Amino acid sequence: MEVTKAVIPAAGFGTRFLPVTKAQPKEMMPVLDKPTIQYVVEEAVEAGIDDILIITGRGKQAIERHFDKSYELEEELEADGKLDRLDRVQEIADLADIHYVRQKEREGLGDAVLYARKHVGDEPFALLLGDTIIENDRGCTETLIKQAEEYESSVLSLERVPCEQVPSYGVADVDGSASADGSFPVTDFVEKPPQEEAPSNLAITGRYVLTPQIFELLAETEKGVGGELQLTDAIRQLDHVRGVELAGDRYDIGNIPSWLQANIEMAIRHDDGEMNEAVEALLKEQFV
Ligand code: G1P
Repeated sequence: MEVTKAVIPAAGFGTRFLPVTKAQPKEMMPVLDKPTIQYVVEEAVEAGIDDILIITGRGKQAIERHFDKSYELEEELEADGKLDRLDRVQEIADLADIHYVRQKEREGLGDAVLYARKHVGDEPFALLLGDTIIENDRGCTETLIKQAEEYESSVLSLERVPCEQVPSYGVADVDGSASADGSFPVTDFVEKPPQEEAPSNLAITGRYVLTPQIFELLAETEKGVGGELQLTDAIRQLDHVRGVELAGDRYDIGNIPSWLQANIEMAIRHDDGEMNEAVEALLKEQFV
């Protein structure tokens, strides 16, 4: 089994971030100098994938414009001798072969993924949620792909979250111990369970490698929690699913505290020394 394609759903409303997201997609929220979805595309590219399908919807045109060539801007930067900025702008359009399909109605994450069926075909694929940045030393998607290829199985990235937060996530029911590489079989999943019914506090983090069986299952799955077609309800019917707990920092950009945290922590870790110092000085001034 070889994973050569990635799918990035970016069709949801950004209601928790209104009014910022009234006229711009939440996936375009900047973290430092890049929109969130660029980090997600870069994670897929770093995992060796150059065929990416982004699921968009109404009001999401800014995403296509961002990954397109920008002739006027490039000419202006060249004429002004701003060559380092020109490089950065050109790199975006050359990142990968990016395709788009529009979800017609917002019927849930499972419905959005079903729109990838024609493009992906009968192949396994990586799935990365477009509003979540994951930073760790070895790319999350790269690790999942290695394990999926080794076990010939779907693999999901999981993270232990505080118990009171489990109702916001898909949650795994795990049986058996982890193999040497840290992955383990998952027997069941439940989407957004009440805290007292959750089988664990191992939450789905927004990075998956799925076998194409998921499309058949999604097509037959009924709407679930919130009246939406839930991806998790189809994943729980897959023949084999493994989970892996990955270290690293995960930022769900759809809410303000997490978006602020992403900006601050990523500024401090950034290799631009001037920026690190400026942000650290600002924090000291405010909190020390
Ligand atoms: C989605 C998935 C959920 C997952 C979460 C991660 O939920 O349905 O299983 O745990 O992403 O962020 P959403 O956040 O879109 O409600």
